[in-house]
Amino acid sequence: MNLKKRAGYEAAKKVKDGDVVGLGTGSTTHYFINQLGERIINEEIEILGIPTSYQSFFIARDSGINLTTLEEHDIDIAVDGADEVDPDLNLIKGGGAAHTLEKVVDNAARKFIVIVDESKMVKELGNFPVPVEVIPQALKAVEKSLIELDGIPSLRMAKNKDGPVITDNGNFVIDTKFEKINNPLQLEKDLNNIPGVLENGIFSNMVDEVIIGTSQGIRCLKSD
Ligand code: A5P
Repeated sequence: MNLKKRAGYEAAKKVKDGDVVGLGTGSTTHYFINQLGERIINEEIEILGIPTSYQSFFIARDSGINLTTLEEHDIDIAVDGADEVDPDLNLIKGGGAAHTLEKVVDNAARKFIVIVDESKMVKELGNFPVPVEVIPQALKAVEKSLIELDGIPSLRMAKNKDGPVITDNGNFVIDTKFEKINNPLQLEKDLNNIPGVLENGIFSNMVDEVIIGTSQGIRCLKSD
């Protein structure tokens, strides 16, 4: 079985009847959301979903998952993918430019589970550039500040549209490469301290559990 699918299906088993579920974004959570839809049909369980992007909204709708908002419900469990996971379970997210709402939803959940294939496990964060969502008017000023933090900024360009990627919130994403990320928590704070930055893709000290799809099966890591 595809390793992302393996992790997504395993996470779908963790959801209980009556849960309000944060629905992450990306190809791994796609499998999770589809499988949750299957459980709703086959086991007649009642679930409410809170999407983290237009993508997860559409997949949830097509999978028959009833939706709600953070205004109306607290979240019991959130399940989301990641681009990198380090041994302390810090993450880099935002490969799909959805990290701002993902962080809000994942952080609000009583339990936050990350689902990845084994290629996402790294010794140290930083091979993947850190996505930084910025308001368009602040682009130049933020790029300057990122260079001052020893980052190499690169405005993310769209694939099937001329010009830059525009996020679900109407902003730009600056992918920022750092030579080394020694202290993810500090860098997360420093990036969010730059005026014009909405949110960055480092998720430190948030994860409760990581479900890893490996060629041997499922491996789970839990935070201390
Ligand atoms: C969305 O912006 C990201 O945070 C995704 O959750 C992350 O990029 C993982 O995506 P895949 O599951 O597609 O690898």
